[in-house]
Amino acid sequence: MVNYKDKVALVTGASSGIGEAYARELAARGSHVIVVARSKDKLEVLAKDLKATYGVNTYVLVSDLSMRGAAGELAEQVKALGLKVNILINNAGFGTEGRFEETSMERYQEMVDLNITSLMDMTAQFLPYMQQQKGGIIVNVSSFLAFYPFPYMGAYAATKAFVLSFSESLWAENRHLGIRVLALCPGATQTGFFDTVDSTNLPISVTGTPQSVVKTAFRGLEKNRIYVIDGIGNYWISNSARFFTRKFMAVLSERLGRPASKN
Ligand SMILES: NC(=O)c1ccc[n+]([C@@H]2O[C@H](COP(=O)([O-])OP(=O)(O)OC[C@H]3O[C@@H](n4cnc5c(N)ncnc54)[C@H](OP(=O)(O)O)[C@@H]3O)[C@@H](O)[C@H]2O)c1
Repeated sequence: MVNYKDKVALVTGASSGIGEAYARELAARGSHVIVVARSKDKLEVLAKDLKATYGVNTYVLVSDLSMRGAAGELAEQVKALGLKVNILINNAGFGTEGRFEETSMERYQEMVDLNITSLMDMTAQFLPYMQQQKGGIIVNVSSFLAFYPFPYMGAYAATKAFVLSFSESLWAENRHLGIRVLALCPGATQTGFFDTVDSTNLPISVTGTPQSVVKTAFRGLEKNRIYVIDGIGNYWISNSARFFTRKFMAVLSERLGRPASKN
């Protein structure tokens, strides 16, 4: 059984949604929690609440992780607090939607910097200590869109395919070192994610909750799974891609995801 008590956990994107629920569940299991995001006020409210409710130590670190070097600066701040991270939850991320050419390259760059570059950099900063300790947990938040092309959210789905592939390799490289690496693949989940993505354009309904996603992650870690998909329906949708050609999946998901205005 995985022991969370008195471990130090760092959760990125903890100011809302899945990250907030993750920080809450870790604190409930006795971990001391470092919460990271850009929204200082929200993080401070959460940190205070977790400390008062669960009696754990909490730390607020404000960071824009889409900026180059942000992970290194965070690692310095963690060191200055005298902490060593045992559990890393790489959760911060956002998505874009629409035809590829409708989003600016600057916005794509920001998404790649956050969803991919910072996730790798955070891993590079905190994995060595886990390797020294021969123990630790890294959860990388991917998506059920990692398993097949998803036109009209194509670049976002590709960042999540990267996260899935990267996490699987990391799991294999570290499996003899007592480190668990999990790619957490939520389906459409009720969070602030849909402040920037219009769910009415999606061919799927938003049924997941941050709490159900986090429960799925904890179950997956218990079994040392390499990836987990939240929701049985999402599991079957994701794995159905194995039985069809890639071309078929691209055509099917384009047809299902095509905005009504483009029909
Ligand atoms: N909701 C879904 O349907 C769904 C499905 C599959 C995967 N996911 C993934 O789940 C993860 C969490 O998203 P969510 O659904 O919980 O959405 P959310 O409620 O919008 O949370 C996103 C979190 O990321 C933080 N964040 C965004 N940009 C950041 C930046 N530049 N630097 C630091 N932190 C930043 C946000 O905090 P600040 O704004 O305060 O910085 C917030 O705490 C993402 O990786 C997302 O791709 C979501």
